[in-house]
Amino acid sequence: MLQRTSNKRAILVTGAFGQIGSELVPLLQRRYGIENVVASDLRRPARCVANKVRIETLDCIDFEAVLDAVRRHNIGTIYHLAAMLSATAEREPQIAWRLNMGGLHNVLEAARQYGCRVFFPSTIGAFGPSTPREQTPQVTIQRPTTLYGVTKVAGELLCDYYASRYGIDTRGLRLPGVISYLTAPGGGTTDYAVEMFHYAVRGETYPCFLTDHTRLDFMYMPDVLRAILTLMEADEQRLRHRNAYNVTAMSLTPPEIAAEIRKHVPHFSVSYKVDRTRQAIANAWPSSLDDSAARIDWGWRPTFDLADMTKHMLQQLSSSSRRMTENRLLSATHQ
Ligand SMILES: NC(=O)c1ccc[n+]([C@@H]2O[C@H](COP(=O)([O-])OP(=O)(O)OC[C@H]3O[C@@H](n4cnc5c(N)ncnc54)[C@H](O)[C@@H]3O)[C@@H](O)[C@H]2O)c1
Repeated sequence: MLQRTSNKRAILVTGAFGQIGSELVPLLQRRYGIENVVASDLRRPARCVANKVRIETLDCIDFEAVLDAVRRHNIGTIYHLAAMLSATAEREPQIAWRLNMGGLHNVLEAARQYGCRVFFPSTIGAFGPSTPREQTPQVTIQRPTTLYGVTKVAGELLCDYYASRYGIDTRGLRLPGVISYLTAPGGGTTDYAVEMFHYAVRGETYPCFLTDHTRLDFMYMPDVLRAILTLMEADEQRLRHRNAYNVTAMSLTPPEIAAEIRKHVPHFSVSYKVDRTRQAIANAWPSSLDDSAARIDWGWRPTFDLADMTKHMLQQLSSSSRRMTENRLLSATHQ
């Protein structure tokens, strides 16, 4: 099936080799054809990719380069993933502003000039300490205290503006922490949840950088990808909120994740070595989201709970670490 309104024009993914992009790109290729997807990033992919994959080195901060890529590849839809995440953005707020706001503005301008649809991922970081923390509503107070959050709220508003002012089909999700095994997370406050699984598989104690009572929302990558595609294929008439829909699957503390891991890795343990910057960020975020608007408007439903996700994560990480050990042994015997 081809993109609904793009008249067979190609798809551009920015930030394509990060945690989400490296799994979204293959999914888009399978769904819309490998030749119809252009994977762009500042850097080259970490692992080998098939021959036909269209790769573009693209800096989203460079407006002419974004315009040129959209024109040259006849782009009809842009999945704009390139951004600096919460913890990294607090270290370099000036650069984060240029990338998160400047990059989005460039993408929206290119979309305006060439009539593209745009997907924009927002975050639970778009809320702040004055937002209701439990069951955070779809429409509520958004006064974030991090630079990341400021750029994401402004991004949601800018996407709404391009939709109402210029008729650009912009759509977005407020994603919670994303847990996945394929590509390491890129400097967010919820990275600890992913790191825990890696330590468990290696048989090491995990030094958690948040306190044991920090409760945050999470989703497993297959649900994230399904949410993105379902939203992008949803009937526009049904979308009461474009930018951005709350989505979530589970609300967890570090000990809850550890306890589930221990059902498979009984000796796994966690110590707590709190990082003040990331703890302050987490303290200002919701502990659970109300995603009923997404459920009603476009049928959102998560499929992975903590138990399913933990089993799958550990299976995938164990088999990839087994493969690496076998490869090392194989190359040692050939020396
Ligand atoms: N991963 C999460 O837990 C999470 C949660 C909520 C929202 N999001 C949002 O989803 C999007 C993707 O997140 P991710 O986790 O894949 O991030 P990531 O940090 O893993 O990947 C971002 C990618 O952007 C690229 N990039 C950096 N500067 C660039 C530039 N100037 N031009 C082009 N590319 C550039 C990086 O090389 C990297 O590959 C981001 O907008 C993020 O805010 C992520």
